[in-house]
Amino acid sequence: MMQNNMNVDESLYIIQPPQRVSDGSYINSIEKYKELYNESINSPITFWGEQANKFLTWFSPFTDVSIGNLSQGDIGWFLNGKLNVSYNCIDRHLQENRDKVAIIFEGDEPNRVQKITYYELYLQVCRLANLLLSLGVKKGDTVAIYLPNTPDAIYSMLACARIGAVHSVIFGGFGVEAIISRIEDSHSKIIITADEGMRGGRSIPLKKNIDSAVYHCKFVEKVLVFKNTGGNIQWNAEKDLWAQEAMQEQRPYCPPVQMDSEDPLFLLYTSGSTGKPKGLLHTQAGYLLYAAMTHRYVFDYRDSDIYACVADVGWITGHSYIVYGPLCNGATTFIFEGTPMYPNASRYWDMIERHRITQFYTAPTAIRSLMKFSVDMVEKHDRSSLRVLGSVGEPINPEAWRWYNQYVGQGQCAIVDTYWQTETGGHIITPLPGATPTKPGSATLPFFGIQLAILDPQTGQLQEETKSEGVLVLTQPWPGMARTIYKSHSRYLDTYMRPYPGYYFTGDGVSRDQDGYYWISGRVDDVINVSGHRLGTAELESALVGCSSCAEAAVIGYPHDIKGQGILAFVTLKHGYQEDEQTITLLKMEVRNTIGAFATPDRIIITPSLPKTRSGKIMRRILRKIASNESSPEQLGDLSTLAEPETVQYLINKVKSN
Ligand code: WT7
Repeated sequence: MMQNNMNVDESLYIIQPPQRVSDGSYINSIEKYKELYNESINSPITFWGEQANKFLTWFSPFTDVSIGNLSQGDIGWFLNGKLNVSYNCIDRHLQENRDKVAIIFEGDEPNRVQKITYYELYLQVCRLANLLLSLGVKKGDTVAIYLPNTPDAIYSMLACARIGAVHSVIFGGFGVEAIISRIEDSHSKIIITADEGMRGGRSIPLKKNIDSAVYHCKFVEKVLVFKNTGGNIQWNAEKDLWAQEAMQEQRPYCPPVQMDSEDPLFLLYTSGSTGKPKGLLHTQAGYLLYAAMTHRYVFDYRDSDIYACVADVGWITGHSYIVYGPLCNGATTFIFEGTPMYPNASRYWDMIERHRITQFYTAPTAIRSLMKFSVDMVEKHDRSSLRVLGSVGEPINPEAWRWYNQYVGQGQCAIVDTYWQTETGGHIITPLPGATPTKPGSATLPFFGIQLAILDPQTGQLQEETKSEGVLVLTQPWPGMARTIYKSHSRYLDTYMRPYPGYYFTGDGVSRDQDGYYWISGRVDDVINVSGHRLGTAELESALVGCSSCAEAAVIGYPHDIKGQGILAFVTLKHGYQEDEQTITLLKMEVRNTIGAFATPDRIIITPSLPKTRSGKIMRRILRKIASNESSPEQLGDLSTLAEPETVQYLINKVKSN
């Protein structure tokens, strides 16, 4: 993980919220935050019941606020309430805000801009919902969505929500194998895709990847294809259908289905430390409430704002903070197909100026790559519209935090470093713009209703001192939490509820300073975080072993200037293969094709053997140290349990010379 400068105690630096941000904000002092926070913890039933009635429109009221506990993993919220998420995100805004812009879309090329009003959004979603119904999609069916980051993705998600179908968005950067494993697991008979995506001036063959996946997944019945680039694609007359054309034949009114609070809303696959990706399941009311509420308070969202999250809808950030949170709040939400570097490194700042963006939400990896350029790239654009700058996906190092604050925000914006996970549905540790004094590198304090604790990783013992460190857990359920892993509830319990009984386990290491501020240090399991993308080392290893040359692989993360963590693979080769450039290229290609370009290993080290215990277990702890250049004998510690200690010296030399 990115290390803080060891000579500086970052926890002592405190930055007060700028006056211009506090003025008029919902929560405008730390005292007010504490008051509301205490209320949310002391009377959760009253608190959440009130919020659910304030933020959501119900077709019929819930009878109980919550049920279940973390020990049992039988959690439900707002029981027996009936609502529809697409109704909450669209219909209810029509009366007063029919012509308000709901979506500003900017394509990969800066001149491709489209503004979609709430009424236009409504018509598109209704047409697509009716089209899905006409194809036989029923409540509870899963629909896979593999689209570029365009409004079509938003239409698709909301169309599913309208008819009670469960969407499963597959990030457009995933390759064929990753698509196959996801649509097989969710058994999606309908796939929504586009001809191609565009990123940084390059096209991405989405339909082609779907064709390969469909070839394996015979149960797929229809592929709806949105035209995005107009590029050439193969056409399978039996299964393929042009989405826009077919939508034109549908009636632009589709009644929203009444859903139960606890009916599934979507699946989103994410990597764990072992095995194949987990299909985390989020439900209707609790998720929507939590996304909307965090969106409103964490970005201090107000009616006339132009709110921009530049993530991809393929990740939870896009689900909660491009689509569900903002639209539930009736916001103007921005969706961006491209990259921060195209056509040049001013793209973000240029968009902020042109659209008068008020909240801007991105990832530390983007900030780190942009701070390498002259500040002139930032300063030549007017950023005076900005009030809140958000960061998400990985710990933000203090240097990047300060650059973001000083150069992008001109010291006039609140920086919100938001810590959360696919599993949490929304932010769980975060500053509030007008209220929370910040410290660069700390996600600060828990959101309303979130109760945190720190445990000793080995003994599970509660760390009661304010200043302490260990693993981060939550002690009470919250409405936004994932309810299960699709078709694997026991895996859900094993992963989150059983490691420390009675608690929800985040998988992250953390420390808490003298002021009670939380500092996330990163994953304590075999999950790595590359540019804010979560990858399981086991998945990467199994992709490598799929290559004909590879006998065995061990993958670990190592500190990387831009990406946060880079991917280093230690590989032993099968007989008859030798270490040369071609072998290494093929290994990298294998991972790229199997998982996706973002998972390509940065470095591959070929070795005759891997450090193992005498019982044959790969000693990752040692590999991690070698990769981080912490390979002095004191740093490596006890090697006496190794089967072949000489392997370690071999690898130390090789990593240094590579
Ligand atoms: C993991 C979750 C949450 C949306 C994007 C990633 C790391 C995320 C922060 C942050 C430190 C962070 C954690 C977490 N993480 N945000 N602000 N500070 N670490 O979602 O793919 O589910 O990954 O990302 O390690 O467990 P995800």
